[in-house]
Amino acid sequence: MVRPYLIGALLAQQSAGPAGIDGFLPFGRGSLMLDVVFLTMFVIVPLLLFSLWQVKYRRNYQLHKALQLTMAIVLLVAVVLFEVDIRFNGWVHRAEPSPYFDAANKWSCLAGRALIVHLSFAVPTLVLWIVVVVQALRKFSRPPSPGPHSAWHARWATLAAGGMFMTAVTGWIFYWLAFVATK
Ligand code: HEM
Repeated sequence: MVRPYLIGALLAQQSAGPAGIDGFLPFGRGSLMLDVVFLTMFVIVPLLLFSLWQVKYRRNYQLHKALQLTMAIVLLVAVVLFEVDIRFNGWVHRAEPSPYFDAANKWSCLAGRALIVHLSFAVPTLVLWIVVVVQALRKFSRPPSPGPHSAWHARWATLAAGGMFMTAVTGWIFYWLAFVATK
């Protein structure tokens, strides 16, 4: 018979101390998924610029669509895995060696403020990104070409692209403040 107190003891042991899988970046204390997302953004930002250049100056709508859908899928998978990692394992213990983090003032220390700035870009951008992709799939012709949806798409997709750029930059800053800088 499985004794409930044994399971309790096991769970308590698991949540004590640094939890989660360590990342692979040699200069940081990030978890595996923190490091994956940190690096992914270095691929997404140039790819996003390339995709916008393709649509604006080359009028290669099909390539733009393929690139945007690939990015949307990669980002969605990364964000889901990242959320699972952070919800289960937390990040505070990884930030504690930083001079910019103070567990007693989690949201008012510099790293905490940087995280608030980052989240205020990341959360609206995630919603906007999904809306822009879904609307583009519904309203552009197949294969994609300019049409009645163009003006709406140009306005909101430019905002979504700007939001993604700011999400990346503020995310990199938070990563450095919390997981690279050391007392
Ligand atoms: C979040 C994802 C996306 C972003 C950030 C994005 C970004 C942009 C931007 C900024 C433009 C305007 C370029 C300019 O100034 O001329 C544009 C144009 C365009 N996009 Fe997207 N796009 C996304 C997804 C998609 C998807 C999924 C499709 C196809 C289903 C698509 C099809 C087009 C087309 C056809 C145009 C040309 C519109 C025109 O010039 O009249 N886009 N996109």
